[in-house]
Amino acid sequence: MNNIVLIGFMGCGKSTVGIRLSYKLRRSVEDTDKFIEKKEGRSISRIFSEDGEAGFREMETACLRELLRSGEERILATGGGLPMRMENRELLKQLGCVVYLRISPECAYERVKNDQERPLLQCGDPLARIRALLDQREPVYRECADIIVDVDGRDMEEILEEIVEKLRENGRLPKEESLKEESPEEA
Ligand code: S3P
Repeated sequence: MNNIVLIGFMGCGKSTVGIRLSYKLRRSVEDTDKFIEKKEGRSISRIFSEDGEAGFREMETACLRELLRSGEERILATGGGLPMRMENRELLKQLGCVVYLRISPECAYERVKNDQERPLLQCGDPLARIRALLDQREPVYRECADIIVDVDGRDMEEILEEIVEKLRENGRLPKEESLKEESPEEA
């Protein structure tokens, strides 16, 4: 399929990039965290505290299966831990082109340090936690990715331009397609 799937660590900007790309490419956007929260009628934090991380990971896999079954091609933003399951990586490949938004631990920390909504970072030393998680995850993100885009110190426009350019190089977008961004009201 020809979904554009955004992966990467917490704070790398998957949700925001997803929304901006959806205006640019005039495709709908889905976010696995939001999809799960809506389906469950509970926040991610509540799901983690009531069903544990394992319960949440099952929901992520079920969500990917449902999106695949729907047959719709869109932009898909994913939770930071989703690619860690091999089964999920296979589903991501079936869904389409996987774009890894790469961020350093320091930059991720700056972006998420005041956030109470990410259960994995509610601990005494979130920066150490981020470093440990990224050490584990970085090789997996890389292996899973068709396209890698660095986000540290770059503004949104630059990031979007690089994604679009690389999607074209990969034959995932027509070369000459006009990509005038529409406002949310017009889209
Ligand atoms: C998680 C990242 C979160 C969310 C959950 C677990 C992770 O999504 O899925 O808190 O394991 O990295 P974001 O990457 O959108 O923050």
